[in-house]
Amino acid sequence: MRIIDLGLNLFIEAFVIVVAVASPVDENGYSRHDFPGGFVFGAATSAYQVEGAANLDGRSPSIFDTYAKTGITGGGTGDVSCDQYHKYKEDVQLMVDTSLDAYRFSISWSRLIPDGRGPVNPKGLQYYNSLIDELISKGIQPHVTLHHFDLPQVLEDEYGGWTSRRVVKDFASYAEVCFKMFGDRVKYWTTINEANIFSWAGYDLGFLPPMRCSFRFVFNCTRGNSSTEPYLATHFMLLSHAAAVKIYKNKYQKTQMGQIGINLYGLAFLPYTDNSEDVAAMRRAYDFHLGWYLDPLNHGDYPTTMKKNVGSRIPLFTAQESRLIKGSYDFIGLNFYTSMYTKDNPAMLEFEMKDFFTDSAVEMRPSQANITSTYLSRVNGSWPSHEYPVKPWSLQSLLEYIKENYGNPPLFIHENGQRTVRNSSLEDTSRVEFLQGYIGAVLDSVRNGSNTKGYFTWSLLDVFEPVDGYSTAFGLYYVDLDDPELTRYPKLSARWFSNFLKGGIVCHSAPGGLILRTKNPSSTSIKTT
Ligand SMILES: *[C@@H]1O[C@H](CO)[C@@H](O)[C@H](O)[C@H]1NC(C)=O
Ligand SMILES: *[C@@H]1O[C@H](CO)[C@@H](O)[C@H](O)[C@H]1NC(C)=O
Ligand SMILES: *[C@@H]1O[C@H](CO)[C@@H](O)[C@H](O)[C@H]1NC(C)=O
Ligand SMILES: *[C@@H]1O[C@H](CO)[C@@H](O)[C@H](O)[C@H]1NC(C)=O
Ligand SMILES: *[C@@H]1O[C@H](CO)[C@@H](O)[C@H](O)[C@H]1NC(C)=O
Ligand SMILES: *[C@@H]1O[C@H](CO)[C@@H](O)[C@H](O)[C@H]1NC(C)=O
Repeated sequence: MRIIDLGLNLFIEAFVIVVAVASPVDENGYSRHDFPGGFVFGAATSAYQVEGAANLDGRSPSIFDTYAKTGITGGGTGDVSCDQYHKYKEDVQLMVDTSLDAYRFSISWSRLIPDGRGPVNPKGLQYYNSLIDELISKGIQPHVTLHHFDLPQVLEDEYGGWTSRRVVKDFASYAEVCFKMFGDRVKYWTTINEANIFSWAGYDLGFLPPMRCSFRFVFNCTRGNSSTEPYLATHFMLLSHAAAVKIYKNKYQKTQMGQIGINLYGLAFLPYTDNSEDVAAMRRAYDFHLGWYLDPLNHGDYPTTMKKNVGSRIPLFTAQESRLIKGSYDFIGLNFYTSMYTKDNPAMLEFEMKDFFTDSAVEMRPSQANITSTYLSRVNGSWPSHEYPVKPWSLQSLLEYIKENYGNPPLFIHENGQRTVRNSSLEDTSRVEFLQGYIGAVLDSVRNGSNTKGYFTWSLLDVFEPVDGYSTAFGLYYVDLDDPELTRYPKLSARWFSNFLKGGIVCHSAPGGLILRTKNPSSTSIKTT
């Protein structure tokens, strides 16, 4: 299989016209120069999804490996993936070609410390040192995540991973190894990726690692308890995060001068109707998804609505833990893809078998099909396979909600990107529309006071995706998996992003059209649609 539709891409250096989406910006359009000085643009990946070499050089399996081997992703695994482990120099060169300021990647805990605790694997250490050195030498800032759905399987087996308090000490030790070994060069640390969706999907619905659930959704989990484990996992993630932050702040931050934060999946919630029940349902949905972490991180305790609905199943913080967690971040990372309508559904609370999903008493509906289908229908179990809608105002409303409710913390958009069928054309106009719409939304939010400091698109390459495996992709660069060389090909989106990062202006053309053009007004445009 080869996609290949290279024709167009030879021409688009200067001009691209893409089909219409509602643009958030004014008639004059925007360029990266409209963002505040120091605003960072980059692209992201994660260890298991991009590295390959899963069984090489002393790496042990993580819960992500185990998950992939169940076949849940349609048979694909990250064993080889994009083989960034061997091709990192080539990939750093792609970043340079794209004019990225920064690369967000994650460290594989089980590559660095194969037993989960104890001795460091010299080959793992060497790999991350080489990658970081290569990035620095090419002027690309490393932004590093410590856990991206990939706890060492050995710790999952030993004590149940994140559902046990024992993880706190092991995570803090692992984090300290990273600060000590890489912190002279890495200035942005994120403890845990999508901590909120990892708890929800890993321990309630079961479609992410470590696939635990008792409320049968799509997949038959063999172990788990959807009523209790999501709350335990979050509790110990918060304590692990805070322990790592304490070590960083006490021992490393003064000399290394970096920043540390946590990453959450930022689903934008919108009320299904304007009635006060649905507006309250929206706030409750935010409490259950974002407040679950942001309330402890800002106020030292879980949201009142959660404590009320969940009762004794939600663990309590001691006064000391509460003090440790409160304020334990320099920034919050958000992964943004889509929005949901929320509808009040108090009847959910009457279910005998409660789980995280029903505890919120909120019915969620996808904003792209707001009447016909309930989000993640338990009955059907069908997965929405379509592309995400482009609704720039939904990201603005999320950033506004965080600004208003959590004291306008420094934010990074750590992930934002369009899902397309992996085999589709290199001419990925829907991804270009998505990026230009949401980057514009970030600019509008920043102009309205949001403290957002950077934007990363997911993903640099077409990587191995949870759930979808290799059937869908988000990359700026296509990776030909049938080619033993795993050749990378730039998509239209790579060229669009590169042009934007070099100072190109994104603006309206005639009604219904948007143009990305270079600053040179004497250039002529090439119409592509
Ligand atoms: C889940 O388990 C039930 C009962 O054992 C079985 O009927 C069903 O086919 C299984 N579903 C899947 C998706 O494996
Ligand atoms: C989940 O845990 C709760 C509280 O310990 C218990 O009452 C319930 O029976 C458990 N559910 C399952 C499916 O094990
Ligand atoms: C639901 O979708 C329809 C059709 O796209 C739209 O007209 C309507 O306003 C939407 N409802 C809400 C609550 O947004
Ligand atoms: C289940 O999902 C399939 C595939 O998306 C769809 O065609 C079908 O109508 C759905 N059935 C129900 C009962 O929602
Ligand atoms: C802009 O900020 C103001 C003040 O914080 C707020 O009232 C307003 O709703 C924001 N506008 C948008 C579009 O978010
Ligand atoms: C990609 O396209 C090829 C040829 O058309 C097809 O055989 C293959 O199944 C497709 N793969 C995916 C993941 O869609």
